[in-house]
Amino acid sequence: MKLNNKIAVITGGARGIGLAIAQRYLSEGASVVVADIDSAAIEAALAILGQQAPSEKVMGIELNVCHQASIDAMVDAVTSRFGGIDILVNNAAIFDMAPVLEVTEASFDKQFAVNTKGMFFTLQAVARSMVARGQGGKIINMASQAGRRGEALVSVYCASKAAVISLTQSSGLDLIKHRINVNGIAPGVVDTPMWEQVDALFARYESRPLGEKKRLVGEAVPFGRMGLPEDHTGAAVFLASQDSDYVVAQTLNVDGGNWMS
Ligand SMILES: NC(=O)c1ccc[n+]([C@@H]2O[C@H](COP(=O)([O-])OP(=O)(O)OC[C@H]3O[C@@H](n4cnc5c(N)ncnc54)[C@H](O)[C@@H]3O)[C@@H](O)[C@H]2O)c1
Repeated sequence: MKLNNKIAVITGGARGIGLAIAQRYLSEGASVVVADIDSAAIEAALAILGQQAPSEKVMGIELNVCHQASIDAMVDAVTSRFGGIDILVNNAAIFDMAPVLEVTEASFDKQFAVNTKGMFFTLQAVARSMVARGQGGKIINMASQAGRRGEALVSVYCASKAAVISLTQSSGLDLIKHRINVNGIAPGVVDTPMWEQVDALFARYESRPLGEKKRLVGEAVPFGRMGLPEDHTGAAVFLASQDSDYVVAQTLNVDGGNWMS
C-alpha cells in the first residue's frame, strides 16, 4: 500500500493507460479521481473501479483540459470532496498524423491544445493547489517515445510530446522547492484504444492492411510484444510514492527497450 490515503487525479483516466493506473492506485490505497472528456467512458470506468473499492474512494468528473474553466472546476470539485490533491497523472492526450505536406493547422492546434497546453495548465492549476495546501505532491506527465525523436508521418504529435518532456524538466526544477516532484513516463507502443486509431492512420498513409502496423511495431519491441496499459502502472506508483522523493524532472522510458536516453 504505497499510496495509502493519497488523493490522485488521473486525466484521461477513463480508459487505456489512465484507467490501468487508476486501478493500480486504488489497490495501493489511494482514492482516485477519473477526470476525462468522455462522460460515457467515465461511467464505464466507474463501474469497473466500483467493483474494486468502496464508492467513497472513487470519483468521476468531466474535464476538458483545453479549457481553463474546466480545469479550475475540476480542482475545486476534488478539493472540496477530498480536501486536496496529492498526485496528478497528466495523461489525457490525442493522436493524429499526416505527411508534413498535408498537416492542417486545425490538427496542429488541437494536438498542442490537448497534449501540451492542456497538460501544462492542468499541472499549473494542480500545483497551485498543492502549494497552497503546503504538503508537496507528485505530478506525472505522460510523454511518449514519440517525444524522444521525430517521425516522418507523426511530426506534430512527436513535437507535442517533446514539449511534454521539456515542460516536465522546467516544471520539475521550479516546483521541487515546494516539494512537488514533477516527472514523466515515456511509453513506447501500447495496446489501447489510441492504437486502433494509430493503426488505421498508418494503414491509410502507408497503404497497409489494417492491423499490420500494429503487429510489426509489437514484433520490433526488444521485449517481444506491444506494451499493455498495466505495464506502466509500476512506474506510475513509483513516481507517485515516497520512493521517488529524490527523483526530479526526469522522464522514464517504459517501452520494452525501444529507446535509450
Ligand atoms: N497508446 C500508446 O501507444 C501510447 C504510446 C506513448 C504514449 N502514450 C500516451 O499515454 C497516454 C494515454 O494513452 P492511451 O493510449 O491510454 O490513450 P487513449 O486514447 O486510450 O485514452 C486517452 C484518454 O484521454 C481522454 N481525453 C482526450 N482528450 C481529452 C481532453 N481534452 N480532456 C480530458 N480528457 C481527454 C480520452 O477521452 C481518453 O479517455 C497519452 O498521453 C498518450 O499520448 C500512449
